[in-house]
Amino acid sequence: MKPSSEEEEEEAVRGVGPWDECFEVAVQLALRAGQIIRKALTEEKQVSTKTSAADLVTETDHRVEDLIVSELRKRFPSHSRFIAEEATASGAKCVLTHSPTWIIDPIDGTCNFVHRFPTVAVSIGFAVHQELEFGVIHHCTEERLYTGRRGRGAFCNGQRLQVSRETDLAKALVLTEIGPKRDPDTLKVFLSNMERLLHAKAHGVRVIGSSTLALCYLASGAADAYYQFGLHCWDLAAATVIIREAGGIVIDTSGGPLDLMSCRVVAAGTREMAALIAQALQTINYGRDDEK
Ligand code: IPD
Repeated sequence: MKPSSEEEEEEAVRGVGPWDECFEVAVQLALRAGQIIRKALTEEKQVSTKTSAADLVTETDHRVEDLIVSELRKRFPSHSRFIAEEATASGAKCVLTHSPTWIIDPIDGTCNFVHRFPTVAVSIGFAVHQELEFGVIHHCTEERLYTGRRGRGAFCNGQRLQVSRETDLAKALVLTEIGPKRDPDTLKVFLSNMERLLHAKAHGVRVIGSSTLALCYLASGAADAYYQFGLHCWDLAAATVIIREAGGIVIDTSGGPLDLMSCRVVAAGTREMAALIAQALQTINYGRDDEK
C-alpha cells in the first residue's frame, strides 16, 4: 500500500534522534502488550483492590508491567530508572531524577478492563533530565497507536494529531475522570467541579474511564479540555508529550506549570481554555506521587 502523505510526513520528521531506538522498542512493547490485554479482556480475571474499592488491579496488569520492564532492562541495561504503576503500588519509590526514566502504566482503564468496557490502553513515557522525550499510548481494543516525540509531532496510526483551537468554555466538550477516592467530601467537590463547568454552559462533560485515552482524545481535537485530580505520573507522562506535540497545553490545576508528580492536571487545546478550566476548579488533595 502506498503511504499517505501524512505517513510520509511522519517519516520525514523521524530523522535520527538520540532516543530513536528507545522509542521504537516502546512502540513494539506497547503493541505486544496490547495483544495480551485484548486476549485477556474477555477471559475470567482475578481482581484485587489497591487504595480504594474503586482502584482495581488484575493479574494482567502485573503480567504486562513485568513484560515491559523486563524487556526494557534487557534492551537498555544502562537504564535503571523505572516508574511503573504496579511496582509503585507495592512500595517502589516514584522519583524522577536526571537519569533516563521509563514511566509505565501497563493497563490504563483497569476498571474498564475488568468490566470488559473496551476503553483500555497501555502507556509508556520516557524522560531524560526530567524532560519528557516521548510518549506511546496504545488503545488496545481499537488498535490505535498514539505517539508523540519532543519536537517531532504527535501521530495516531500515522495521522498527524492537532488539538482543537476552541477558546470559549461555552462551546467546549470537556473530559474528566473521577479518581479513586469516593469519600463524601471528595465526591462533593468532584460533582461541584462538574456542576461549575455545566453552569458555565460547557457543551458536555464526559468520563470514559481512562485518563490516558481521554488525553489522547484531547490531542486528537475530539475534545477541548481535560482536567483531573487523582491521576498519577504514569497516567500523564506519555500523554503530556502527545498533547504538547499536537499543539496543546498541559498545566497544573492552579494555573501554573505542570508538575508531573502532583496528581492533578488541566490540559486543553488553547492556553485560554486551560486558564478558564483552572479558574473554575476547586482542589481535591491527593498528595504527591513522589511522597508516597
Ligand atoms: C486510572 C484510570 C481512571 C482514573 C484514575 C487512573 P488505572 O488508571 O485512568 O480513569 O480516574 O485516576 O489512575 O488505575 O486504570 O491505571
